[in-house]
Amino acid sequence: MTDFVFSTVANIVSELGAAGRLGQHIAQRFPDARRALLVTDPGFLRTGLVDAPAASLRTAGLAVEIYSQVMADPPEAVVLEAVAAARSFGADIVIGLGGGSSMDVAKLIAVLADSDQPISAIYGIGNVKGKRLPLVQIPTTAGTGSEVTNIAIVTTGATTKMGVVAPQLYADLALLDAELTIGLPSTVTAATGIDAMVHAIEAYTSKHKKNPLSDGLARKALGLLSTNLITVCEDGRNLAARQAMLLGALLAGQAFSNAPVAAVHALAYPIGGIFHVPHGLSNSLVLPHVLRFNAPDAAGLYAELAEIVVPAASGSIEARAEALAVAMQQIAIVTGIERTLQQVGIAETDLDRLADDAMLQTRLLGNNPRTVTRDDARAIYLAAL
Ligand SMILES: NC(=O)c1ccc[n+]([C@@H]2O[C@H](COP(=O)([O-])OP(=O)(O)OC[C@H]3O[C@@H](n4cnc5c(N)ncnc54)[C@H](O)[C@@H]3O)[C@@H](O)[C@H]2O)c1
Ligand SMILES: [Fe+2]
Repeated sequence: MTDFVFSTVANIVSELGAAGRLGQHIAQRFPDARRALLVTDPGFLRTGLVDAPAASLRTAGLAVEIYSQVMADPPEAVVLEAVAAARSFGADIVIGLGGGSSMDVAKLIAVLADSDQPISAIYGIGNVKGKRLPLVQIPTTAGTGSEVTNIAIVTTGATTKMGVVAPQLYADLALLDAELTIGLPSTVTAATGIDAMVHAIEAYTSKHKKNPLSDGLARKALGLLSTNLITVCEDGRNLAARQAMLLGALLAGQAFSNAPVAAVHALAYPIGGIFHVPHGLSNSLVLPHVLRFNAPDAAGLYAELAEIVVPAASGSIEARAEALAVAMQQIAIVTGIERTLQQVGIAETDLDRLADDAMLQTRLLGNNPRTVTRDDARAIYLAAL
């Protein structure tokens, strides 16, 4: 067996209603915490679902401040503003409560609030120095898996994103409570759910760091996600299915945090960066076309995953790999999300720029099972047009 390393978050609570008992969970695990900063975005704040966790923290004797200015694909300026808010409040514990955007900002607050490192010094891999504030993550989308990953993604320019990857970004506690996700609109549910499925698929085919633990997690994740995604899109109030989606997204997060994602994400990032298409939808738009491009080198692994996602698929390895691509396209059709680049405002004249930008994602492209040239990237975008 090939050598490997596997890391993840030490404590995971999967418990319906846990957010309403947040104070008890925090008091039990962080007895020294006195001042909690809840990090969320205006959309989630409007749902009113921040009130019960905040009240529960106060009942447990903590002072609570809510930072609710997180934006999707958080710009660096928002991160810095949030860090300043944490400092002026004197936060001694940071709690991300939202989608990937809020959780990524929470990670960076926890790392930077008590540090003299400037944000510019921590981009890249392994550049965070020292300890961070205690960090708890509570996802409200079943998508990014950010609650268990060691990555935070920041928008650094008009269209560019940079990642911070460091062991300090693993939270102390991840808490899954489906009651927070019942109001998530079905199109967001679909796109974020597909993002989670892509994490599992790309971890399973990751070129260098694929390992038995990430494989098992990716397979279990795909089983949960493919069984429950359509259900939660049709009936958002199905708590059992919503909790299963949260668990699936978390397991996929554990998988890709150790066996990183590849060309689907590399080609999705420019779509999000330039055209402000949500992360999950950007992935979904290129996914079937990347799967077909990769098939000559990855059909065997895709056929294994097809057994989970489309158990009825039969025939050759290539036929089952194609069945996986068709099944993923089918999810987009059934849930009614956009399926072509043109539907999100992208024209053929944009494809050269997209392909140029995708080629800059060298960290991700290096994980892809098949080498992607610039011409390949453009051809994939053309197929997705
Ligand atoms: N750190 C990682 O491992 C990782 C992995 C993948 C993506 N990301 C990043 O995560 C971000 C995307 O995260 P996301 O897809 O979860 O979306 P998001 O956090 O940007 O939220 C999307 C929208 O959904 C709304 N929303 C969230 N939860 C809701 C709920 N329960 N009810 C109603 N509305 C709700 C928000 O208000 C927001 O408008 C991007 O910045 C991406 O780069 C991070
Ligand atoms: Fe993703």
